[in-house]
Amino acid sequence: MSNTRPEVIARESWVDADKGTVDRRIFSDQAIYQQELKRIFARGWNFICHETQLPESGCFFLSYIGEDQVIAVRDRQGEVQVLLNSCPHRGNTVCRSDQGKTRSFFCSYHGWNFDLDGKLVAVPGYESYYREKLDKEQLGLQKANRVESYKGFVFASLDDDAPDLETYLGWVGKVGIDLIAERGDMEVIDGIQKNRIQCNWKLAVDNLYDWYHPKVSHGSAVRAGMIDEEGLRYMNQMVMLGEYGHGISGADIGEENLAQLKQVVAAGGDIQGPAQGQVWRTTDKAEEAMGPVGVRSGGHPNIFPNLWVSAAGPPQLCLRIPRGPFETELWWFTFAEKNQTVEERRAAVMVANHVFGPSGLLEQDDGENWSHSTRGSVGAVTGERPINFSMGLGQDKMTHDASGQSYIDTVVNEHAQLWLYRSWQEWMKAESWPDLVKNHSAPPTGDV
Ligand code: FES
Ligand SMILES: [Fe+2]
Repeated sequence: MSNTRPEVIARESWVDADKGTVDRRIFSDQAIYQQELKRIFARGWNFICHETQLPESGCFFLSYIGEDQVIAVRDRQGEVQVLLNSCPHRGNTVCRSDQGKTRSFFCSYHGWNFDLDGKLVAVPGYESYYREKLDKEQLGLQKANRVESYKGFVFASLDDDAPDLETYLGWVGKVGIDLIAERGDMEVIDGIQKNRIQCNWKLAVDNLYDWYHPKVSHGSAVRAGMIDEEGLRYMNQMVMLGEYGHGISGADIGEENLAQLKQVVAAGGDIQGPAQGQVWRTTDKAEEAMGPVGVRSGGHPNIFPNLWVSAAGPPQLCLRIPRGPFETELWWFTFAEKNQTVEERRAAVMVANHVFGPSGLLEQDDGENWSHSTRGSVGAVTGERPINFSMGLGQDKMTHDASGQSYIDTVVNEHAQLWLYRSWQEWMKAESWPDLVKNHSAPPTGDV
Protein backbone atom coordinates (compact mmCIF):
# COMPACT_ATOMS: atom_id res chain seq x y z
CA MET A 1 0.00 0.00 0.00
CA SER A 2 1.55 3.30 -1.02
CA ASN A 3 0.23 6.50 0.41
CA THR A 4 2.69 9.25 -0.34
CA ARG A 5 1.37 12.78 -0.42
CA PRO A 6 4.07 15.36 -1.25
CA GLU A 7 2.41 18.02 0.88
CA VAL A 8 2.76 15.82 3.97
CA ILE A 9 6.53 15.34 3.83
CA ALA A 10 7.06 19.03 3.07
CA ARG A 11 5.04 20.26 6.03
CA GLU A 12 6.65 22.66 8.42
CA SER A 13 5.33 20.82 11.42
CA TRP A 14 3.57 17.52 12.14
CA VAL A 15 3.55 17.92 15.89
CA ASP A 16 2.07 20.85 17.78
CA ALA A 17 3.69 20.60 21.22
CA ASP A 18 1.68 23.58 22.55
CA LYS A 19 -1.69 22.08 21.66
CA GLY A 20 -0.66 18.46 22.13
CA THR A 21 -1.68 17.37 18.66
CA VAL A 22 -0.03 15.13 16.07
CA ASP A 23 -0.72 14.96 12.33
CA ARG A 24 -1.91 11.41 11.90
CA ARG A 25 -0.57 11.11 8.37
CA ILE A 26 2.86 10.44 9.90
CA PHE A 27 1.53 6.93 10.50
CA SER A 28 0.77 6.15 6.87
CA ASP A 29 2.87 8.28 4.55
CA GLN A 30 5.44 6.30 2.55
CA ALA A 31 7.85 9.22 2.07
CA ILE A 32 7.83 9.95 5.80
CA TYR A 33 8.54 6.28 6.41
CA GLN A 34 11.56 6.32 4.08
CA GLN A 35 12.82 9.42 5.84
CA GLU A 36 12.44 7.69 9.22
CA LEU A 37 14.63 4.81 8.04
CA LYS A 38 17.38 7.28 7.16
CA ARG A 39 17.05 9.99 9.76
CA ILE A 40 15.97 7.98 12.77
CA PHE A 41 17.00 4.34 12.44
CA ALA A 42 20.25 4.62 10.42
CA ARG A 43 21.27 7.67 12.45
CA GLY A 44 20.36 6.52 15.97
CA TRP A 45 21.81 3.89 18.30
CA ASN A 46 19.78 0.71 17.83
CA PHE A 47 19.67 -2.19 20.27
CA ILE A 48 21.06 -5.23 18.48
CA CYS A 49 21.40 -8.00 21.07
CA HIS A 50 22.76 -8.82 24.52
CA GLU A 51 26.35 -10.02 24.82
CA THR A 52 25.22 -13.26 26.47
CA GLN A 53 23.66 -14.20 23.13
CA LEU A 54 27.18 -14.32 21.64
CA PRO A 55 29.11 -16.42 24.18
CA GLU A 56 31.94 -17.59 21.88
CA SER A 57 33.74 -16.72 18.66
CA GLY A 58 31.52 -17.61 15.71
CA CYS A 59 28.24 -17.14 17.61
CA PHE A 60 25.91 -14.85 15.70
CA PHE A 61 22.46 -13.26 16.01
CA LEU A 62 20.50 -11.72 13.16
CA SER A 63 18.99 -8.33 13.93
CA TYR A 64 17.80 -5.09 12.32
CA ILE A 65 18.56 -1.41 12.10
CA GLY A 66 15.27 -0.18 10.64
CA GLU A 67 14.96 -2.35 7.52
CA ASP A 68 18.72 -2.92 7.23
CA GLN A 69 19.33 -6.48 8.33
CA VAL A 70 22.53 -6.94 10.33
CA ILE A 71 24.50 -9.89 11.69
CA ALA A 72 25.91 -9.46 15.18
CA VAL A 73 28.81 -11.90 15.48
CA ARG A 74 31.69 -12.51 17.86
CA ASP A 75 34.83 -12.56 15.73
CA ARG A 76 38.02 -14.56 16.21
CA GLN A 77 39.46 -11.88 18.50
CA GLY A 78 36.36 -12.00 20.69
CA GLU A 79 35.05 -8.60 19.52
CA VAL A 80 31.40 -8.11 18.60
CA GLN A 81 31.04 -7.14 14.95
CA VAL A 82 27.83 -5.83 13.41
CA LEU A 83 27.81 -6.54 9.67
CA LEU A 84 25.21 -5.71 7.05
CA ASN A 85 23.69 -8.95 5.83
CA SER A 86 24.04 -8.28 2.13
CA CYS A 87 26.62 -9.71 -0.26
CA PRO A 88 28.50 -6.97 -2.16
CA HIS A 89 28.26 -9.10 -5.35
CA ARG A 90 24.49 -9.13 -6.03
CA GLY A 91 23.09 -8.17 -2.66
CA ASN A 92 22.01 -11.63 -1.54
CA THR A 93 21.85 -12.33 2.19
CA VAL A 94 24.85 -14.28 3.47
CA CYS A 95 23.15 -15.44 6.66
CA ARG A 96 19.63 -16.90 6.74
CA SER A 97 19.55 -18.32 10.21
CA ASP A 98 18.16 -16.28 13.15
CA GLN A 99 21.05 -17.29 15.38
CA GLY A 100 23.72 -19.95 15.65
CA LYS A 101 27.44 -20.59 15.38
CA THR A 102 29.52 -20.55 12.23
CA ARG A 103 33.10 -20.39 10.95
CA SER A 104 32.28 -17.98 8.11
CA PHE A 105 29.38 -16.52 6.12
CA PHE A 106 28.99 -18.29 2.79
CA CYS A 107 26.86 -16.66 0.10
CA SER A 108 24.47 -19.18 -1.39
CA TYR A 109 24.32 -17.43 -4.78
CA HIS A 110 27.86 -17.64 -6.24
CA GLY A 111 29.81 -18.79 -3.22
CA TRP A 112 31.73 -15.75 -2.00
CA ASN A 113 32.82 -16.45 1.54
CA PHE A 114 33.31 -13.93 4.34
CA ASP A 115 35.24 -14.23 7.59
CA LEU A 116 33.66 -13.42 10.96
CA ASP A 117 34.91 -9.83 10.72
CA GLY A 118 33.29 -9.41 7.29
CA LYS A 119 36.49 -9.79 5.26
CA LEU A 120 36.04 -11.43 1.85
CA VAL A 121 38.25 -14.51 2.06
CA ALA A 122 37.23 -16.70 -0.89
CA VAL A 123 35.83 -16.06 -4.37
CA PRO A 124 35.12 -18.99 -6.67
CA GLY A 125 36.79 -18.39 -10.05
CA TYR A 126 39.05 -15.66 -8.67
CA GLU A 127 41.94 -16.78 -10.93
CA SER A 128 40.05 -18.32 -13.84
CA TYR A 129 37.08 -15.96 -14.36
CA TYR A 130 38.13 -12.75 -12.66
CA ARG A 131 41.76 -13.26 -13.76
CA GLU A 132 42.71 -11.92 -10.35
CA LYS A 133 41.20 -8.53 -11.20
CA LEU A 134 38.91 -8.11 -8.20
CA ASP A 135 39.69 -5.87 -5.26
CA LYS A 136 38.83 -8.27 -2.45
CA GLU A 137 39.90 -5.75 0.18
CA GLN A 138 37.07 -3.45 -0.87
CA LEU A 139 34.42 -6.14 -1.14
CA GLY A 140 33.96 -7.33 2.40
CA LEU A 141 30.61 -7.17 4.21
CA GLN A 142 29.84 -3.61 5.21
CA LYS A 143 30.33 -2.94 8.90
CA ALA A 144 28.03 -0.82 11.04
CA ASN A 145 29.79 2.52 11.49
CA ARG A 146 29.60 2.34 15.28
CA VAL A 147 29.20 -0.54 17.73
CA GLU A 148 29.20 -0.03 21.50
CA SER A 149 27.92 -1.88 24.49
CA TYR A 150 26.39 -0.59 27.74
CA LYS A 151 26.53 -3.17 30.55
CA GLY A 152 26.35 -5.99 28.02
CA PHE A 153 23.57 -4.44 25.87
CA VAL A 154 24.97 -4.09 22.35
CA PHE A 155 23.91 -1.12 20.22
CA ALA A 156 24.95 -0.06 16.71
CA SER A 157 24.61 3.03 14.56
CA LEU A 158 25.05 3.52 10.82
CA ASP A 159 26.23 7.09 11.32
CA ASP A 160 29.86 8.07 12.00
CA ASP A 161 28.76 11.30 13.65
CA ALA A 162 26.61 9.73 16.38
CA PRO A 163 27.72 10.74 19.89
CA ASP A 164 29.09 7.89 22.01
CA LEU A 165 26.45 5.49 23.30
CA GLU A 166 26.46 6.68 26.91
CA THR A 167 26.05 10.30 25.86
CA TYR A 168 23.21 9.26 23.60
CA LEU A 169 21.45 7.30 26.34
CA GLY A 170 21.85 10.05 28.92
CA TRP A 171 20.65 9.37 32.47
CA VAL A 172 17.11 8.43 31.41
CA GLY A 173 18.25 5.88 28.82
CA LYS A 174 20.78 4.43 31.25
CA VAL A 175 18.19 4.11 34.04
CA GLY A 176 15.99 2.32 31.49
CA ILE A 177 18.60 -0.34 30.83
CA ASP A 178 19.72 -0.44 34.46
CA LEU A 179 16.21 -1.60 35.40
CA ILE A 180 17.36 -4.94 33.97
CA ALA A 181 21.16 -4.71 34.19
CA GLU A 182 21.30 -3.84 37.89
CA ARG A 183 19.21 -6.81 39.04
CA GLY A 184 22.12 -9.20 38.94
CA ASP A 185 24.16 -11.20 36.48
CA MET A 186 21.60 -11.32 33.69
CA GLU A 187 21.39 -13.32 30.48
CA VAL A 188 18.90 -13.66 27.65
CA ILE A 189 16.85 -16.84 27.76
CA ASP A 190 17.17 -18.61 24.44
CA GLY A 191 14.28 -18.07 22.04
CA ILE A 192 13.27 -14.59 20.94
CA GLN A 193 9.52 -14.35 20.42
CA LYS A 194 8.65 -12.58 17.18
CA ASN A 195 5.34 -11.59 15.70
CA ARG A 196 3.92 -8.97 13.39
CA ILE A 197 1.13 -6.50 13.97
CA GLN A 198 -0.49 -4.45 11.24
CA CYS A 199 0.30 -1.08 12.71
CA ASN A 200 2.70 1.81 12.47
CA TRP A 201 5.71 1.33 14.79
CA LYS A 202 5.24 4.70 16.53
CA LEU A 203 1.77 3.82 17.78
CA ALA A 204 3.21 0.65 19.32
CA VAL A 205 5.89 2.77 21.01
CA ASP A 206 3.61 5.49 22.36
CA ASN A 207 1.33 2.86 23.93
CA LEU A 208 4.05 1.72 26.32
CA TYR A 209 3.76 5.08 28.12
CA ASP A 210 -0.04 4.88 28.15
CA TRP A 211 -1.54 4.26 31.59
CA TYR A 212 -4.92 5.57 30.47
CA HIS A 213 -5.91 2.53 28.43
CA PRO A 214 -5.49 -0.54 30.70
CA LYS A 215 -8.86 -0.32 32.46
CA VAL A 216 -10.64 -0.18 29.12
CA SER A 217 -8.44 -2.07 26.65
CA HIS A 218 -7.58 -4.81 29.11
CA GLY A 219 -11.01 -5.06 30.70
CA SER A 220 -11.29 -8.66 29.55
CA ALA A 221 -8.01 -9.53 31.29
CA VAL A 222 -9.42 -7.99 34.46
CA ARG A 223 -12.62 -10.00 34.13
CA ALA A 224 -10.62 -13.17 33.48
CA GLY A 225 -8.78 -12.54 36.75
CA MET A 226 -5.43 -12.03 35.05
CA ILE A 227 -5.05 -8.44 36.19
CA ASP A 228 -5.98 -7.23 39.62
CA GLU A 229 -8.50 -4.42 39.19
CA GLU A 230 -7.25 -2.76 42.36
CA GLY A 231 -3.85 -2.49 40.76
CA LEU A 232 -5.38 -0.43 37.95
CA ARG A 233 -7.08 2.00 40.28
CA TYR A 234 -3.96 3.88 41.22
CA MET A 235 -3.73 7.22 39.53
CA ASN A 236 -0.13 8.25 39.99
CA GLN A 237 2.32 8.40 37.17
CA MET A 238 5.98 9.40 37.34
CA VAL A 239 7.51 10.63 34.11
CA MET A 240 11.18 11.15 33.28
CA LEU A 241 12.13 12.74 30.00
CA GLY A 242 15.56 12.38 28.42
CA GLU A 243 17.47 14.00 25.60
CA TYR A 244 16.88 12.71 22.06
CA GLY A 245 13.43 11.34 22.88
CA HIS A 246 14.10 8.79 25.63
CA GLY A 247 11.49 8.54 28.34
CA ILE A 248 10.20 6.55 31.30
CA SER A 249 6.59 6.67 32.37
CA GLY A 250 4.57 4.74 34.90
CA ALA A 251 4.65 3.73 38.51
CA ASP A 252 6.89 5.22 41.18
CA ILE A 253 7.56 2.60 43.80
CA GLY A 254 7.73 5.41 46.36
CA GLU A 255 10.49 6.95 48.45
CA GLU A 256 8.99 5.71 51.71
CA ASN A 257 8.38 2.19 50.46
CA LEU A 258 11.97 1.95 49.28
CA ALA A 259 13.33 3.30 52.59
CA GLN A 260 11.20 0.77 54.48
CA LEU A 261 12.34 -2.08 52.29
CA LYS A 262 15.95 -1.04 52.83
CA GLN A 263 15.47 -1.19 56.58
CA VAL A 264 13.95 -4.66 56.45
CA VAL A 265 16.75 -5.91 54.19
CA ALA A 266 19.40 -4.34 56.44
CA ALA A 267 17.84 -6.04 59.48
CA GLY A 268 18.00 -9.38 57.67
CA GLY A 269 14.19 -9.62 57.56
CA ASP A 270 12.32 -12.20 55.53
CA ILE A 271 10.93 -10.58 52.38
CA GLN A 272 7.98 -12.33 50.80
CA GLY A 273 5.65 -11.74 47.85
CA PRO A 274 6.08 -9.02 45.22
CA ALA A 275 8.57 -7.08 47.43
CA GLN A 276 11.09 -9.85 46.77
CA GLY A 277 11.39 -8.63 43.21
CA GLN A 278 12.36 -5.17 44.48
CA VAL A 279 15.18 -6.11 46.84
CA TRP A 280 17.85 -5.41 44.20
CA ARG A 281 16.91 -1.72 44.41
CA THR A 282 18.07 -1.49 48.01
CA THR A 283 21.78 -1.95 47.24
CA ASP A 284 24.21 0.97 47.19
CA LYS A 285 25.30 -0.26 43.78
CA ALA A 286 21.80 0.16 42.33
CA GLU A 287 21.37 3.62 43.82
CA GLU A 288 24.80 4.69 42.62
CA ALA A 289 24.04 3.53 39.10
CA MET A 290 20.49 4.83 38.84
CA GLY A 291 20.38 7.81 41.17
CA PRO A 292 17.79 8.46 43.91
CA VAL A 293 14.97 9.11 41.43
CA GLY A 294 15.83 6.47 38.85
CA VAL A 295 16.06 3.70 41.42
CA ARG A 296 12.39 4.30 42.34
CA SER A 297 11.14 3.89 38.81
CA GLY A 298 8.61 1.14 38.26
CA GLY A 299 7.58 2.58 34.91
CA HIS A 300 8.09 1.72 31.28
CA PRO A 301 11.22 3.12 29.65
CA ASN A 302 11.65 3.55 25.92
CA ILE A 303 15.14 3.96 24.51
CA PHE A 304 14.47 6.10 21.46
CA PRO A 305 13.46 5.09 18.94
CA ASN A 306 12.00 1.66 19.57
CA LEU A 307 13.35 -0.29 22.54
CA TRP A 308 10.86 -0.89 25.32
CA VAL A 309 12.25 -2.09 28.64
CA SER A 310 9.49 -4.02 30.39
CA ALA A 311 10.70 -4.61 33.91
CA ALA A 312 7.59 -4.76 36.08
CA GLY A 313 7.19 -8.54 35.61
CA PRO A 314 9.87 -10.91 34.32
CA PRO A 315 12.46 -8.55 32.79
CA GLN A 316 12.00 -8.27 29.05
CA LEU A 317 12.98 -6.04 26.17
CA CYS A 318 10.72 -5.47 23.21
CA LEU A 319 11.93 -4.05 19.92
CA ARG A 320 9.29 -2.51 17.70
CA ILE A 321 10.89 -3.00 14.28
CA PRO A 322 9.30 -1.17 11.33
CA ARG A 323 8.16 -3.19 8.32
CA GLY A 324 6.69 -0.41 6.24
CA PRO A 325 4.29 2.25 7.53
CA PHE A 326 1.56 -0.31 8.13
CA GLU A 327 3.40 -3.16 9.80
CA THR A 328 5.58 -3.63 12.89
CA GLU A 329 7.53 -6.66 14.00
CA LEU A 330 7.71 -7.17 17.77
CA TRP A 331 10.73 -9.01 19.18
CA TRP A 332 10.61 -10.07 22.82
CA PHE A 333 13.85 -10.81 24.65
CA THR A 334 13.32 -12.38 28.09
CA PHE A 335 16.05 -12.09 30.73
CA ALA A 336 16.91 -14.22 33.73
CA GLU A 337 19.57 -14.14 36.40
CA LYS A 338 22.28 -16.63 35.55
CA ASN A 339 21.91 -18.39 38.89
CA GLN A 340 18.13 -18.87 38.69
CA THR A 341 16.94 -22.45 38.89
CA VAL A 342 15.27 -24.17 35.94
CA GLU A 343 11.93 -24.01 37.76
CA GLU A 344 12.27 -20.29 38.42
CA ARG A 345 13.04 -19.69 34.77
CA ARG A 346 10.17 -21.81 33.63
CA ALA A 347 7.77 -19.87 35.85
CA ALA A 348 9.12 -16.52 34.61
CA VAL A 349 8.83 -17.56 30.95
CA MET A 350 5.29 -18.76 31.49
CA VAL A 351 4.24 -15.41 32.96
CA ALA A 352 6.08 -13.51 30.21
CA ASN A 353 4.44 -15.54 27.45
CA HIS A 354 0.96 -15.06 28.83
CA VAL A 355 1.21 -11.30 29.22
CA PHE A 356 3.09 -10.10 26.14
CA GLY A 357 4.24 -11.67 22.89
CA PRO A 358 2.02 -13.41 20.32
CA SER A 359 0.20 -15.46 22.95
CA GLY A 360 0.10 -12.64 25.49
CA LEU A 361 -3.38 -11.59 26.47
CA LEU A 362 -2.45 -7.92 26.86
CA GLU A 363 -0.65 -7.62 23.57
CA GLN A 364 -3.60 -9.02 21.67
CA ASP A 365 -5.79 -6.26 23.10
CA ASP A 366 -3.18 -3.59 22.39
CA GLY A 367 -2.28 -4.80 18.89
CA GLU A 368 -5.84 -4.55 17.68
CA ASN A 369 -6.10 -0.94 18.85
CA TRP A 370 -2.78 0.03 17.25
CA SER A 371 -3.90 -1.55 14.05
CA HIS A 372 -7.21 0.34 13.94
CA SER A 373 -5.47 3.61 14.87
CA THR A 374 -3.08 3.09 11.96
CA ARG A 375 -5.96 2.46 9.56
CA GLY A 376 -7.49 5.68 10.81
CA SER A 377 -4.59 7.64 9.36
CA VAL A 378 -5.13 6.54 5.77
CA GLY A 379 -8.43 8.06 4.69
CA ALA A 380 -8.30 11.26 2.65
CA VAL A 381 -10.55 13.04 5.13
CA THR A 382 -10.04 10.96 8.30
CA GLY A 383 -6.27 11.39 7.96
CA GLU A 384 -6.56 15.18 7.92
CA ARG A 385 -7.72 15.41 11.52
CA PRO A 386 -4.90 15.54 14.09
CA ILE A 387 -4.87 13.13 17.03
CA ASN A 388 -4.65 14.31 20.61
CA PHE A 389 -1.99 13.99 23.32
CA SER A 390 -3.00 16.88 25.58
CA MET A 391 -3.66 15.06 28.84
CA GLY A 392 -1.90 17.01 31.62
CA LEU A 393 -0.43 19.54 29.21
CA GLY A 394 0.09 22.90 30.97
CA GLN A 395 -1.05 21.48 34.30
CA ASP A 396 2.00 19.81 35.77
CA LYS A 397 5.51 20.69 36.75
CA MET A 398 8.94 19.14 36.60
CA THR A 399 10.51 18.46 40.00
CA HIS A 400 14.28 18.91 40.00
CA ASP A 401 16.07 16.66 42.45
CA ALA A 402 19.37 17.75 44.03
CA SER A 403 21.01 14.81 42.22
CA GLY A 404 20.31 16.52 38.90
CA GLN A 405 17.57 14.03 37.99
CA SER A 406 14.16 15.48 37.23
CA TYR A 407 10.67 14.04 37.01
CA ILE A 408 6.99 14.82 36.80
CA ASP A 409 4.98 13.12 39.53
CA THR A 410 1.28 13.50 38.92
CA VAL A 411 -1.88 11.72 37.84
CA VAL A 412 -2.18 9.70 34.63
CA ASN A 413 -0.97 11.92 31.77
CA GLU A 414 0.38 12.03 28.22
CA HIS A 415 3.60 13.98 28.77
CA ALA A 416 5.89 11.14 27.69
CA GLN A 417 3.91 10.41 24.52
CA LEU A 418 4.02 14.04 23.47
CA TRP A 419 7.75 14.16 24.23
CA LEU A 420 8.22 11.12 21.98
CA TYR A 421 6.51 12.81 19.01
CA ARG A 422 8.13 16.16 19.63
CA SER A 423 11.57 14.52 19.64
CA TRP A 424 10.64 12.39 16.63
CA GLN A 425 9.95 15.58 14.70
CA GLU A 426 13.33 17.04 15.66
CA TRP A 427 15.08 13.91 14.39
CA MET A 428 13.09 14.08 11.15
CA LYS A 429 13.86 17.75 10.53
CA ALA A 430 17.59 17.54 11.35
CA GLU A 431 19.89 17.21 8.34
CA SER A 432 22.67 15.49 10.29
CA TRP A 433 23.90 14.57 13.77
CA PRO A 434 25.61 17.95 14.26
CA ASP A 435 22.32 19.60 13.28
CA LEU A 436 20.38 17.40 15.71
CA VAL A 437 22.87 17.96 18.55
CA LYS A 438 22.54 21.70 18.04
CA ASN A 439 18.79 21.94 17.55
CA HIS A 440 17.16 19.26 19.69
CA SER A 441 15.10 20.32 22.71
CA ALA A 442 16.44 19.82 26.18
CA PRO A 443 13.90 18.09 28.46
CA PRO A 444 11.48 20.69 29.83
CA THR A 445 11.99 22.40 33.16
CA GLY A 446 9.46 24.09 35.43
CA ASP A 447 5.84 24.01 34.25
CA VAL A 448 5.04 21.41 31.64
S1 FES B 1 25.46 -12.62 -4.64
FE1 FES B 1 26.85 -13.34 -3.19
S2 FES B 1 28.29 -14.42 -4.33
FE2 FES B 1 27.04 -13.58 -5.82
FE1 LIG C 1 -1.80 -2.40 26.95
